[in-house]
Amino acid sequence: MRYREIVILTGAGVSAESGVRTFRDNNGLWEDHRVEDVATSEAFARDPNLVQRFYNLRRNQLHHIAPNPAHLALARLEREFDGRVTLVTQNVDDLHERAGSRDVIHMHGELRRVRCTRCDTVHHWLDDCTQRSRCPNCGQAPSLRPNIVWFGEMPFEMEAIHDRLTRCDLFVSIGTSGSVYPAAGFVSNVRHAGEAHTIEVNLEPSAGASRFAEHRNGKAGALVPVLVDELLGVGRSG
Ligand code: OAD
Repeated sequence: MRYREIVILTGAGVSAESGVRTFRDNNGLWEDHRVEDVATSEAFARDPNLVQRFYNLRRNQLHHIAPNPAHLALARLEREFDGRVTLVTQNVDDLHERAGSRDVIHMHGELRRVRCTRCDTVHHWLDDCTQRSRCPNCGQAPSLRPNIVWFGEMPFEMEAIHDRLTRCDLFVSIGTSGSVYPAAGFVSNVRHAGEAHTIEVNLEPSAGASRFAEHRNGKAGALVPVLVDELLGVGRSG
């Protein structure tokens, strides 16, 4: 069978071979911080300077990492596939774009964007952001926060994602532990729609592995180029 519409979901595991630390391999700490100290709106209200510094460091790290073969293969899939490919990522880095992917939905936001809490505009932001930084639109300060979805906040573009999930005939999840909703539930949204095939590519079986029809366990940098070759070749038979 040839697929017409593919949705790919990626998580931290796809960027691991580029040198980005995943979330759940470090005693619950994210780059040595407790998540509730840096990734909640309460943390930002309590200590905005700490939160800004944390995301400034993450944003600066982007200068020192590069896309790996998994990112490059997914960009090639989007370019060469004779149908629609939608890439939904939980990652806040920009490695998919730097590899050449165009149709990328960042459901948890992006390090290189900030949002004004007063006028709600979103700005591309490459430098450090502090409580003294002024919003380029309304000129207010302090007003800017990382355009990141923190715990307790609604992920971005959920309507568009659900629309693509219900239409797709192949859903592939790559490098995600399947422990954070709503992304962890996407595989069920697909299967309810009918005939779609589902594949999990992950270092080890994820928390939601039993919900996938097919499993490929190992490193994304090795497995994703092989999968993309298959999808661009004869496709899945049967
Ligand atoms: P996790 O750290 O929870 O899971 C990463 C998964 O990738 C694990 O299952 C690893 O086994 C797997 N993995 C590691 N290296 C790999 C490799 N080279 N190839 C393939 N798989 C590999 O990260 P996510 O599932 O992305 O949310 O986490 C989901 C969300 O939780 C994040 O987006 C973040 C976090 O809290 C927010 O910030 C809102």
